[in-house]
Amino acid sequence: MYTVPKLDDYSPAALNRAARELKSAFESEAAATSAETEWKSLRDRWMGRKNGILTQLNDLWLKSAPGPAKREVGQRVNELKKIVEEQIDATLSRISSASSSSRLAQARVDITLPGTRRKLGVEHPLIRTMKEIVGVFKAMGYSVAEGPEVETDYYNFEALNFPPNHPARDTQDTLIIAGQQGRPLRERLLMRTHTSPVQIRVMEKQPPPVRVVVPGKVHRADTADATHSPIFHQVEGLAVDTNITFCDLKGTLDQAAKAMFGSSVRTRFYPSFFPFTEPSADMQISCFKCDGSGRLDGGRCGLCKASGWIEILGSGMVDPNVYGFVNYDAKKYSGFAFGMGVERIAILKYGVDDIQLFYQGDVRFLEQFA
Ligand code: DAH
Repeated sequence: MYTVPKLDDYSPAALNRAARELKSAFESEAAATSAETEWKSLRDRWMGRKNGILTQLNDLWLKSAPGPAKREVGQRVNELKKIVEEQIDATLSRISSASSSSRLAQARVDITLPGTRRKLGVEHPLIRTMKEIVGVFKAMGYSVAEGPEVETDYYNFEALNFPPNHPARDTQDTLIIAGQQGRPLRERLLMRTHTSPVQIRVMEKQPPPVRVVVPGKVHRADTADATHSPIFHQVEGLAVDTNITFCDLKGTLDQAAKAMFGSSVRTRFYPSFFPFTEPSADMQISCFKCDGSGRLDGGRCGLCKASGWIEILGSGMVDPNVYGFVNYDAKKYSGFAFGMGVERIAILKYGVDDIQLFYQGDVRFLEQFA
């Protein structure tokens, strides 16, 4: 490593030699510098104010020069300073342009490569089924209504003709909101167990004629298993007008069943009970797998359990007591209502064997609906 020599000989020839040696030492150090940290030490070593090589020139060469040689020595030292300073700057620009071009080389993009394909999302099978059901009724002139999931006892039960302590309430496995014993029963909050309370909310807001469908989420205190979920979905329907009869109920729901499951499906109605409809009926469709025969490939049909029929919804003529709660004139108006489980319809349509698959978000299940 170069160090500044003391001069004893101040002749021009000796000065030239010393200057040449310094210059070539500097040039080879500068040439060997390729990173910014190296450049910083180069700069400090040569230009450092306190003990840099240029400073040493002042002490070792200039100050100790005899009077007559000072001018000559001063000139050389200034020349050398100028060269070193310029070359230090030049070295830095060389380094940074080299590193920026290597950065550019690294960041080089091949624009002829194909892009990254992002998979398109699809509607969840439950939402799709719910929209399909709603769409069938929209096509028949129904509008869509929604209501709250946290509901009062009044809307979920009382106005639907479930009197307090009536055993029909037990079939609903209601999840209630805690800490409301101080409130009157009808004001107590619960998670709605069905979409039927929206019937009441709609009728409170508008006079007949009414034709609405109500998609939504409902809650029951059920343990999750392959066929039960504490949260599930329903689509409710309500039609109220003058002269609505059970024939309208049957015709409408038969048409809806054909639209949902195929035009060769037949329907039948079985007596049932709901507090808010009288009479009430469960609708069954002929099994679309065995076409109602109960037999498949020489054995029994598993879908309808060999009965040939599958139950898909509850329905009935709106009980006149319900009109009493919403100030509809029960002598003038009549209507029908129905409610179906969206999961149940989706399970049947898509042959799903475990209801939990709808909620687990497993792509292997969901991508089958893409
Ligand atoms: N709300 C009933 C349930 O969740 C289903 C139902 C039955 C709705 C008959 C109706 C109806 O509107 O008329 O079990």
